[in-house]
Amino acid sequence: MNSGIDTYQLLTVTHKTASLKTIGDYVVNIGEGQDLKELLQNLKQTFGMEELLYVPTCNRVIYLFTGDVQISSDFIETFFTTINPSLAKRKNRIHNEVSYYFGEYAINHLYAVAASVDSLVIGERQILGQLREAYSNCQKMQLTGDNIRLLMRFTVTLAKRVYSQTRIGEKPISVVSLAIKKMLDAQVAKDARILLVGAGQTNILVSKFLVKYDFENVVVFNRTIEKAKKLSRKFNNQYKELAALEDYQHGFDLLIVCTGATEAIITSEMYRKLIGQDQSKKMIIDLAIPNNVARDVVNSFNINYIEIDTLRALAQENMAFREREVTKAQQIIIEEVNEFEGQFKQRQIEKAMREIPVQIKKVKSKAINQVFRKEVELLDENTKELMERMMNYMEKKCISIPMTIARDVMMKQELV
Ligand SMILES: NC(=O)c1ccc[n+]([C@@H]2O[C@H](COP(=O)([O-])OP(=O)(O)OC[C@H]3O[C@@H](n4cnc5c(N)ncnc54)[C@H](OP(=O)(O)O)[C@@H]3O)[C@@H](O)[C@H]2O)c1
Repeated sequence: MNSGIDTYQLLTVTHKTASLKTIGDYVVNIGEGQDLKELLQNLKQTFGMEELLYVPTCNRVIYLFTGDVQISSDFIETFFTTINPSLAKRKNRIHNEVSYYFGEYAINHLYAVAASVDSLVIGERQILGQLREAYSNCQKMQLTGDNIRLLMRFTVTLAKRVYSQTRIGEKPISVVSLAIKKMLDAQVAKDARILLVGAGQTNILVSKFLVKYDFENVVVFNRTIEKAKKLSRKFNNQYKELAALEDYQHGFDLLIVCTGATEAIITSEMYRKLIGQDQSKKMIIDLAIPNNVARDVVNSFNINYIEIDTLRALAQENMAFREREVTKAQQIIIEEVNEFEGQFKQRQIEKAMREIPVQIKKVKSKAINQVFRKEVELLDENTKELMERMMNYMEKKCISIPMTIARDVMMKQELV
């Protein structure tokens, strides 16, 4: 029998024990004509869970459940082979890749996930949004109830506390956000003429930041013109083929370059043509590996050159900073797990006491309408009214007495 917070149990596969590709094997697959709600409802019923929270993300999958479920190696095997029958051939893998937590350890794990202490990228707040979304979906699918609702409420509070009382998510650790920070620090004007060279994943991310910070004067260059066209829709629909870059004569203030070319594509000769007579200092952000800007361009021209190696070193420094904040976050998590345990107990008492008002009302009604009916009928109106007021008063007081006593008992227990 799982009593108290041991009712919470958690099975998970994360980036710590499995490759990102493998994690997909533990996610509920929706076949043709199937419905996620039905699949999860079946899972919950088959394995005797009272409530179920299912959280699939790209670097972890979590099954958090409550109820009197006895977990063993066999259970874990059966559970995951039910989700994905192809895992039956790789049972050893299941035991290496799945982690199991119960009670306070399950809560601790969920908290660590929400606070991004357990993340692939520590301090990435996105995970809290993913958890909330997963909870909202499971709620709609009627998979969760009061216990998971309570835990989620405390999980969100814990995560907010960690983000506000530590500096875990403070310093950027992606090279793109660091590049943009450099740009903002340099106070590049909002109407600066920007050339965005390359239209791959990295520059798509760059473009999101440019839009976010209201940089609109952007011309996109790319080898494949369709991709340049598509990316330019975020700005003023100005796009050209990469080959047209050297003949571009409209000037620029900032050049952001990021392509998969294995040799420099911004050569001295091309750069000279590109700037023409303009000798003013330009900013170049080169996010490519290897660099897309030739070394002699950097050495010979008036450029504020920001390249990926510097940004990566900064990213590592910031990551080390975030890791140091983890210790503080873990301390908060321990405090909050203890707090939750107390709140959970109180909630159980509250639930048990929900019946008290109903029962007391019944006693009152029986007293008036059955036991003392005849005597009550003989009373005059004033006395009847007084009697009812006294009974209502008694009713209210009787309802609050057990709650107060229970709270006092709990407080005393906590002090022991
Ligand atoms: N993804 C990351 O997390 C990340 C982070 C930092 C830096 N980087 C670096 O950024 C560069 C691009 O990465 P990505 O993820 O954006 O790649 P991607 O999504 O594959 O896009 C590659 C881009 O480079 C262009 N390209 C490829 N080969 C080229 C060539 N020989 N000449 C001219 N253009 C060429 C492609 O043009 P088409 O559209 O014509 O194919 C496309 O615009 C790489 O050097 C990578 O190491 C990547």
